[in-house]
Amino acid sequence: MGQLTLSVDELRALDKRHHFHPFTDNKALWEEGGTRVITRGEGVYIYDAEGNRILDAFAGLWCVALGYGRKELAEVAYQQMLELPFYNTFFKCTTPRVTELAGAIAELTPPGLDRIFFATSGSEANETIVKAVRHFWNLHGKPNKKTFIGRTYGYHGSTMVTTSLGGMAEMHEHGDLPLPGFAHISSPYWYRFGGDMDPKDYGVVAARELEKKIQELGPDNVAAFIGEPLMGAGGVMLPPETYWPEINRICKQYDVLLIADEVVCGFGRTGEWFGTQLYGIEPDVMTLGKQITSAYLPLSAVVMGPRMRETMHEKGGEFRHGFTYSGHPVSCAVALETIRILKDEKIVERVKTDTGPYLQKRLREFADHPLVGEVRGVGLVAAVELVADKKTRQPFRPEGNAGITLRDHCLKNGLILRATRDSMLFSPPLTITRDEIDEVIAITKKGLDLAAKDLKS
Ligand SMILES: Cc1ncc(COP(=O)(O)O)c(C=O)c1O
Repeated sequence: MGQLTLSVDELRALDKRHHFHPFTDNKALWEEGGTRVITRGEGVYIYDAEGNRILDAFAGLWCVALGYGRKELAEVAYQQMLELPFYNTFFKCTTPRVTELAGAIAELTPPGLDRIFFATSGSEANETIVKAVRHFWNLHGKPNKKTFIGRTYGYHGSTMVTTSLGGMAEMHEHGDLPLPGFAHISSPYWYRFGGDMDPKDYGVVAARELEKKIQELGPDNVAAFIGEPLMGAGGVMLPPETYWPEINRICKQYDVLLIADEVVCGFGRTGEWFGTQLYGIEPDVMTLGKQITSAYLPLSAVVMGPRMRETMHEKGGEFRHGFTYSGHPVSCAVALETIRILKDEKIVERVKTDTGPYLQKRLREFADHPLVGEVRGVGLVAAVELVADKKTRQPFRPEGNAGITLRDHCLKNGLILRATRDSMLFSPPLTITRDEIDEVIAITKKGLDLAAKDLKS
């Protein structure tokens, strides 16, 4: 296992000729020496073709919840492939694992959110929601309610529609986006936008941007608001506690559906099963993905609450939408096993009461470091934001350099972190131990000191 049939050099040459990498400057990649070839993983560690052991404190891409090398997940996938590798769920058919998984998810999600549509990626699930919500408002006789409101720095996927839902300006550039019918407000990013305001006051101010935007567009034109409970890819921004209650109020008052994108938060990342529970969000519909299978196979889901479920069910007729792999039986078997392990090993509880608080406490030791402006996080998700001036919170210029400098020092010393602008993001497997957290902290500390030297010179 993990052995190469080609030499590393042969692999790199083949990769260079034929593989176009996502979210990568493919030209720069080869000018800078080519790809790192990852060959295997065990626990929280991955190994590259040169034999380096690297602690993956980003869980792949926020997704390898149970760590690498869990035999139980491979075993259920194997058994399911032998029993029934595939059958579709389109034409009045189901397969046992799909239905069992729908039931298992409905037991975990907040009351009322219990009708599940399956897809394979977070993007597909959010894309599905956009179509379903527009259908919903048509069925309600309000065909003008079509505009979606998202947030700057929000991330909901990379298709045309989900990039439009998101607020990543660099991504919008590629496809002449956002498409018509998608608007944005700022993100609740207190450290950057809150100034001298108390976070609680700022939370209300940030939420009321939604109210202003709805009034500006006209409530009769607004279909839904979408948000991640805490913002992941945008830089792990945690909303002040006043934010979501105010968003709940606004959505209800103006009859705007509320979509909670739980692709990153779902399945225990914050120490609750869902971020919705942590922040008291009252969504009409939720998106799940990533950790649902611990990333061993692709799967995502749309979870409808009572309002959407009843309308789609009672008045909707045929929902002319679906993917070949909606409810793929092998992915569903792996998701069921992931949920079983999360429950049996009390992993979500451990994130809430033990490893989560421990990671947060240890990261806060960096608050006094000359490069560090803010440390923020909850459970096993966190950001350490680097700034040029701690007092004024002035960012480094050009933005992003400091983050990359630190990320590269950490990688050289055996730790994977992700840099978003100048925030270092932490999102390790939920199975990480205290000793492994100590290793994350030790390497980050070393990286911070090395980056401080580089950035001063
Ligand atoms: C919050 C959120 N939603 C949706 C997505 C898109 O998921 P996928 O990459 O599986 O399409 C992501 C991916 O990182 C995400 O972070």
